[in-house]
Amino acid sequence: MYDIVARIMGSPVEEIKARLGVEEVVGSYLKLERAGANLKAKCPFHHEKTASFFVSPARGSFYCFGCGAKGDIFSFVEQMEGVDFKGALRVLAERAGVPLSHFRKEESDSRDRLFAVLEEATQFFEKELGARADARAYLASRGLLPKTSGVWRVGFAPDEWRALRARLAAKGFSDTEMFRAGLIKQSVEKKGESYDVFRNRIMFPIFDSAGRVIAFSGRIMGKESEGVPKYLNTPETELWRKSSALYGINRAKHKIRGRGFALLVEGQMDLLMCHQAGFENAVAASGTALTPEHLDLLRRFSENILLAYDADTAGEKAALRAVSAALQKGMAVKIAALSDKGKDPADIIAKSPAEFADGLKNSTHFVKFLLERAVARGATARERSRLVLAEVLPFVRDVKSAIERAEFAKDIAARLAVREDAVWEDLKKIESTGQQTEGGQKIMQKIKNSAFRVLAGIILWQEKLEAGEREVDTEKIKKDVGAVVAEFLLYLSAISADERVQHIFEAEARFGGGGALPKEVSVLLLHLEKEELERKSVEILNALTVAGRGGEGEAQRKELLTLLQSLRMRIEEIKRLLAE
Ligand code: CTP
Ligand code: MN
Repeated sequence: MYDIVARIMGSPVEEIKARLGVEEVVGSYLKLERAGANLKAKCPFHHEKTASFFVSPARGSFYCFGCGAKGDIFSFVEQMEGVDFKGALRVLAERAGVPLSHFRKEESDSRDRLFAVLEEATQFFEKELGARADARAYLASRGLLPKTSGVWRVGFAPDEWRALRARLAAKGFSDTEMFRAGLIKQSVEKKGESYDVFRNRIMFPIFDSAGRVIAFSGRIMGKESEGVPKYLNTPETELWRKSSALYGINRAKHKIRGRGFALLVEGQMDLLMCHQAGFENAVAASGTALTPEHLDLLRRFSENILLAYDADTAGEKAALRAVSAALQKGMAVKIAALSDKGKDPADIIAKSPAEFADGLKNSTHFVKFLLERAVARGATARERSRLVLAEVLPFVRDVKSAIERAEFAKDIAARLAVREDAVWEDLKKIESTGQQTEGGQKIMQKIKNSAFRVLAGIILWQEKLEAGEREVDTEKIKKDVGAVVAEFLLYLSAISADERVQHIFEAEARFGGGGALPKEVSVLLLHLEKEELERKSVEILNALTVAGRGGEGEAQRKELLTLLQSLRMRIEEIKRLLAE
C-alpha cells in the first residue's frame, strides 16, 4: 500500500525511509537490545514479560512473535501513536526533515484549513473563559482545577449570535470553512446571516489522537433547564465522526498502554476529573455508546477495558452491545464498583478520589456484574435461572477464552445452585457467535513449531542475502527437504508475503549471528525426517489393522511389517544422531 502512496506523492515515503532507520525510530519509543543481527524489546503492543518484539535494521521492519504485530516505521508510528498513515507521515517527515510539498496539495491544504479554523476557535473560547469569572467559578464548584481546564483547553462561548464568526472572519476564514468545521449554521430564512453554533456554553474541545482539535462539546453552565440541551456537540464533519473519536485519547493513549487497560467513562467532566486525579488512562465516548470502531482504536493500546459507568447505564442496550463486541474481539471488560447510586466518576472524585480508586480496585468482570444483576432481580429460583439464561449466558458465549468461559460456567452454577453441566447444556443451545475452533488453533500451533516451517524460514532468510553472505546452500536444502516431504516446494511457493516476513524473522531470530547454521540445518532435517517417518508408521499401523488375514492379505501384512521395521530402525538411528 505504501508503494502506491509513495507513487502518488512523489515518494517522500522512500525519502523518509532512507533517512530514518527503523532502529532509530523504534528505539526512540522502546529500549532495544541486540539480538544477533536484529534488535529486540518487550512488545509495546501487548503485555509481556520476555522480549519477543524483533527489529531488523537490514530490512527496515519489525515483527512480534507474541502478538503478530509487524510492519515498517510508518506502521509502527501509526500503531504507537494511534494515528492514520497521514499522521505517521507527518510525524516522520518532520523528524527526517523531509518537506511534504509533494503531498496531494489541495486536499491537504483544505483539511489543514479546517484544523486551523478549529484551532483559532479554541483559542477564542479559551480567551473568553478568562473573561468569565462566573464560568470559572462554576468549573471550580465542580472540583475542576484551573490547571486541568488549561491542559484540556476548556473555554467559553459568549452569549452572542456571531462573536465567533466575526473573530474567525477577521482572521481570514470564510463562512464555508467555518461551516465545514461545524462552527456556524446557516440561518433558516436563507436571507439571514449564518450564526455561531455554540453560544453561552462551556466549551470542551475534542482532540484527535495527535492532539489536534476536531470538534467541540459545549455544556450549559449550571443546572439543566427545559428546552435547552445540556450538551451540544459539533455536527459530524469531515474531521469529526462520533462513532470513531474518543475524547481524551490524545493524552491517554500512552498511559493506557502503560497501565495495561483503558478506563472508560461517559462524559467530559468525568474524563477531566479522572485525569486530574491521576487516572490518566481515562477516555470517553462522548455522547454516544461505544462502537466497534472505538474498540479497534482502543485495542491498539490495550486489550483491557474498565468501565467506570453508572450501574444503570452499563445495563443499557447500547452499552451491552458494545461489551458483547469487545468480548468477541477477545478483549477483557470489567466494570468498576461505583457504589454511590446515581453518582458518576466526576461527582465521586470531586468528593473523594480515594473512594473512586476503591471502586476501580473492586471492579468485577462484566459477566459477573451481569450475573449479580440478574440474580438480584429474580425473585424466585426459576425467575433467576430465566434471567441468567437470557441476559448472562449470551455474554459467556462471547468470551473468547475457553478457560474463562469455564470459570463463568462454574460461577453461574454456584450462584444458581444448579449442576455445572446444566449450565453447559444451556450454553450449547445459545447461538454461537463464531468462535475459533480450538482444534484449528492446535493445528496452527503444530505447523508453527514444525521443523518444516523453520526450514522454510531459513531458506527464505538466506535467499534474501547476497550469495556471498549465505551460510548455507539453499538449493541443497530444498532438495534434501523435498526428498523427505514432497510437498515442500509447493508449500514454499505458496507462502504469502506477510507469512514470508514472519518466517524470515523467526529464522533470523533463532539462528542469526550464531554461526552454527549448517549444523542446525542438518539437525532440523533429521527432525523433519523423524516427524515424517513417525507419521508414516502410524499410517502403516492403521493399514495393518485393516489388512485381511490369510492368502493375499498375509503377503500384504508381511510387506507392511517389514516396512514398519525399517522405518523404526531409521527412527532409532535418527534419535541416536540427535542425542549426540
Ligand atoms: N451528552 C450529549 N448530549 C446530551 C447529554 C449528554 O452529548 N444532551 C453526552 C456528553 O458527552 C456527556 C455524556 O453524554 O458528557 C454524559 O452525559 P451526562 O452523564 O448527562 O453528563 P455528564 O458528563 O455527567 O455532565 P455533567 O456531570 O456536567 O452533568
Ligand atoms: Mn456528571
